[in-house]
Amino acid sequence: MVDSTSSSRAPGAAELPAPYGVGAGTSSHSTSKADGKPAGRIRTHHLQQAKDNGERFAMLTAYDQYMAEIFDEAGIEVLLVGDSASNNVFGNETSLPVTVDELLPLCRAVSRSAKRALVVADLPFGSYEVSPQQAVATGIRFLKEGLAHAVKIEGGSFYAESVRSMVEAGIPVMAHIGFTPQSEHALGGYRVQGKGDDGQRLIDDAVALTEAGAFCILMEMVPAATAAAVEAEVVVPTIGIGAGSSTTGQVLVWQDMAGLRTGKLPKFVKQYANLRSSLSEIAKAYAQEVRTGQFPGPEHSF
Ligand code: KIV
Repeated sequence: MVDSTSSSRAPGAAELPAPYGVGAGTSSHSTSKADGKPAGRIRTHHLQQAKDNGERFAMLTAYDQYMAEIFDEAGIEVLLVGDSASNNVFGNETSLPVTVDELLPLCRAVSRSAKRALVVADLPFGSYEVSPQQAVATGIRFLKEGLAHAVKIEGGSFYAESVRSMVEAGIPVMAHIGFTPQSEHALGGYRVQGKGDDGQRLIDDAVALTEAGAFCILMEMVPAATAAAVEAEVVVPTIGIGAGSSTTGQVLVWQDMAGLRTGKLPKFVKQYANLRSSLSEIAKAYAQEVRTGQFPGPEHSF
């Protein structure tokens, strides 16, 4: 266990470094330890401790310096440099086209900027499916060149061997099951996975990936009851996106959560702001002041 503030927990029980963990932001948690030294980095074992202690944690995507800084300072425990950069940064329609070489610089920016959050990098489509050796080689690039702390791959028990090989090579792995966007063509589009009897398949996948060494199971678009069954079955923490409220953590794509995206939103998204309209308003105000000669004023001139 790294740094933490004082705790009312039983001896042996651990908590996430302040200001992380249940109640963060609403309690008197400070961002530093009592001795003034910065509290420690969130590590995979802190997520396990969260599950063991019945606490929850938050994860958001981040793809650049300022978002990483803002979310890190806000106490978001895990930042995901998602392959969703494909359709949230690079303008693609899906997550499939984004490449390792496109994601690595984003990952480096996030890792350099987040002082406390655990930074997880998505291995993009085509960079790990061929063999466990390919998965290890790509995982190493994300830890070495992208400065990530862990990687995420999509897929079920078929990838257990790849997870095992990466973990043995020293690469912590988060496994993403349920709806896996990189397989959207194979899955026939955006569809909820693990309904009814198919729920057992997801439980089996989660168990196999956990036994292979995954430190966390992420579930996307899975019925709440199936996700709850997975959370109960595996010892490691689970994270949900469209998977109900029983998972240890929740994740959203930040542009969805902040209201940058247009069009119909998936049911699982909650918008906490409308940044698109705020940014549009300030861009219009700036352009208007430029056109009328109001900006720059004397105070902005040399
Ligand atoms: O790439 C991504 O943003 C993701 C989330 C949807 C979990 O994988």
